Amino acid sequence: MNEWIERGKKVIMNTYNQFPIVLEKGDGVHVWDCEGKKYLDFVAGIAVNALGYKNSDYVKDITAQLMKLQHCSNLYWMMPSIELSEILVQNSCFDKVFYCNSGAEAVEAAIKLSKKYGKKVHGENCYEIITMKKSFHGRTMATVTATGQLKYQVGYNPLLPGFSYVEFNNYNDLEKMVCEDTCAIIIEPIQGEGGIHPAEKSYLQKVRSLCDRNDIVLIFDEVQCGIGRTGELFAYQLFDVKPDVVSLAKGLGGGFPIGAMLATQSKANAFQPGDHASTFGGNPLACTAGKVVLKKLLYEGILENVQKRGKYFKEKLIELQEKYDMIKEVRGYGLILGIELNCSVKDIVNKCMEESLLILGAGENVIRFVPPLIINNKEIDEGITILDDVLGQF
Ligand SMILES: Cc1ncc(COP(=O)(O)O)c(C=O)c1O
Repeated sequence: MNEWIERGKKVIMNTYNQFPIVLEKGDGVHVWDCEGKKYLDFVAGIAVNALGYKNSDYVKDITAQLMKLQHCSNLYWMMPSIELSEILVQNSCFDKVFYCNSGAEAVEAAIKLSKKYGKKVHGENCYEIITMKKSFHGRTMATVTATGQLKYQVGYNPLLPGFSYVEFNNYNDLEKMVCEDTCAIIIEPIQGEGGIHPAEKSYLQKVRSLCDRNDIVLIFDEVQCGIGRTGELFAYQLFDVKPDVVSLAKGLGGGFPIGAMLATQSKANAFQPGDHASTFGGNPLACTAGKVVLKKLLYEGILENVQKRGKYFKEKLIELQEKYDMIKEVRGYGLILGIELNCSVKDIVNKCMEESLLILGAGENVIRFVPPLIINNKEIDEGITILDDVLGQF
């Protein structure tokens, strides 16, 4: 294993603080490192591997597509992207889909669409975007500017002009910031990287009517909390508030790189041919992966599984909170859950890995749980037992 890590260090750019293991294969909700050690995976590629590993339909359908057509330009129509869009549109409040390859690109597309809309409808100066403190929207220049956390922006000045930051879940703060040049407000319905902080339903409802009154584009960034994570296909459904635009990625491809930006017709109309594009966007393999994920979520009981397992998992975390004073709060919905501790989580995360459980921090003192959506109660118990044991040592 160390030999692989040494080789990696020589040739992979130093942008991650990797854990000292090399993962080689997976099955269901487990992964194995290259020395054969098995881990229970509550990370799932950071909320990506919705169907876990080696799902037979996933492997079968992508392989079949690979035998037909691995890629062609968006200058031609492709069946998988049309079919995937139909499923997305039929099961949401949106009318049109734009494909790209990652979460940052999906948010980037949402920003560009909103600017086009603002300028077209309200004039050349209508390009300002309001975003939330503690948010995370990606690492491109536009999305890192939209991200409301300084630590991701250090070293990249000058950032993009036209962004302002308000406190999450604070309506007065937001209302004060809105002006005639505001083209969009962007919100994660559940802040993921910022520490699993859900929005309040009443807050989102007020934001919706603020946007309606001022014809401002409401963007929900559901890159992490969308695609079944909350137990609903889209997180907005959980809060009963319909955005104009949503960004998706992560779980959508179940491990195949894909991003998507969905919009209602009136907003989607702001894009015309040539306004935005992506060579790989709508790739037939990625869209086939997306089709398998959505079919399983919608028609094979996975959404119901998330609702049931999410409830069970949260109950187990609350039991741990009752046992350990160090757990300040349990947060989240479905299978995007977090516990806030009164200390740094780094050593706990490392110790859990040693004990064969993969978990992840979200900020300094929050442990996040985003396992594959196919997880069962026995596997949750297995993870909770390890966590309980590890917490007992701190
Ligand atoms: C809410 C949110 N938006 C955007 C992104 C960026 O996604 P990607 O890393 O695929 O570019 C992330 C990634 O964690 C995210 O959680």
